[in-house]
This record gives sequence, C-alpha cells and structure tokens, in this order.
Amino acid sequence: MKSPTSNADVHIEESLPAIAADAAETFVRLSQEVQAMGKPFRVALSGGSTPKLLYGLLSSDTFRGEVAWDNIQFFFGDERWVPHTHRDSNFKMANDELFSKVDVNSENIFPIPTEEVSPDDAAAQYEATLRQVFSEGSEVPRFDLIFLGMGADGHTASLFPHTEVLHEREKLVAAPYVEKLTTHRITLTPVVLNSAAEVLFMVVGEDKAPALREVLKGEYNPDEYPSQLLREAQGNVTWLVDSAAAGKLREA
Ligand code: 6PG
Repeated sequence: MKSPTSNADVHIEESLPAIAADAAETFVRLSQEVQAMGKPFRVALSGGSTPKLLYGLLSSDTFRGEVAWDNIQFFFGDERWVPHTHRDSNFKMANDELFSKVDVNSENIFPIPTEEVSPDDAAAQYEATLRQVFSEGSEVPRFDLIFLGMGADGHTASLFPHTEVLHEREKLVAAPYVEKLTTHRITLTPVVLNSAAEVLFMVVGEDKAPALREVLKGEYNPDEYPSQLLREAQGNVTWLVDSAAAGKLREA
C-alpha cells in the first residue's frame, strides 16, 4: 500500500488565478535554475481548460520578460486525436495562449503528431522524438517539469481508468482508444511522468473533490484513480488545488 501522500506536496489556494500565479512563478524559477546549469529547460504541457490561464499569464507582461524562452523545449503530456487547428487541440490552446506571444524557437516546440499517421504511428514517432531530443539513449527522458491536470474521474494526461496504458512500463508514449470518449488519445505513459524532476498538478472545481480525496488519501487503486500512479514518482509532486477541489481532503 503506497503512502497516501508520501511524495505529494498539496497547496490549497483560493482561486484559479492564484494557482496560475503560483504555477507561473514555479515555471520561471525552475527554468532559471536549469538554464543556469547550461541546459535547456524541458517541460511538458498539459491540456484541458485549467492551464489556459497559466499559459496566458506566462505570456503576459508580468512574466514574459522573466523567462529565457530561446532555451526552453516544449513538449506535451498528451494530445487529443484532432488536427492542431481544431478547437480541442492541446497544441492549439498552448499556441494561441503562449507560443504565439513569446520568443520561443519553433524548432523547440514538439507537438504530438495527429495527422496523416495512425494513432500508434503517432505515438511511435513522438517516442522517437523524445529519445532523439533527450539523447539519453535507452534511459527514460527526465523532464525538468511536467504540468498535469486531473479529471473528475481521477485521470491525468490521457491515462484514463481501466485502460491498458496504466500498466505500460516500457513504452514512453502510447495511443489508447478511450471508450468513454470514443476516440484515441496520444499520451506520455507513467514511465515518463514518473521520471520527471518536478510534476505540478493544477486541479480546480468541486466536481473533482471526490477523486482528489481518493487520489491523495485513498487506498492505492490506480486502475480506478490513475493520478495515483504519480505516487511512484521519482521527483517532486506538487498539487495546486483550489478550496472547492480540496473540499473532501479533510474528511476522515
Ligand atoms: C487533456 C488533459 C487532461 C486534463 C484533465 C483536466 O488533454 O484534457 O491532458 O488530462 O488535464 O482532463 O481537464 P480540465 O483542466 O479541463 O479540467
């Protein structure tokens, strides 16, 4: 049985803007620390709605000037099986809110392929890209920072309950067919998520309170609550949650 919060540092904040500001400050601090060692800062972005404010904040006058954008490599934790121009595309959201507004080098942005390939080939291509860019041979790529969200069902990235990818211990990237969404997703596997130096979850909303309590304090059951897989993380896991999402954490 895994310790409920053995590696999780939970910060309860009053609102999404406060979470976004905290996440932006963390991004700036970590990027400066890594770049000070003469290395590119390698980050995987999450999708969905929660991080949109963070990306907008990073590209705002408040933070844009604090970041050496030309020495950051951007990847994605997962992607929907739609074109990068589609309104549901995680790449589109990050491009609209961030990449299009800062001086990041386009060759340092690594979207997950979603067109003119099969889902499995897209996953294989992205895995090859990870291995090539991280050039650590057979070693698992170790991101400096991975942003994650959590669904009301406890999923994270595109690791959904009761899917085979939850048990993946070899591949870096997979293309699960998600029955409940009737679509494929492309996702980093637990292997990569758990090798990151820092993982930063952002979770808001009352609808997520039951799952968050199970993920952080419940019996270890990652098939039911996939975000629990991050209890195996080798690095630091920080949860930035609002009081609504944290509403059941104090329950016995
Ligand atoms: C995605 C995300 C997914 C997301 C959660 C939470 O592609 O949708 O990677 O894991 O983080 O579903 O989504 P919200 O932030 O929209 O609640």
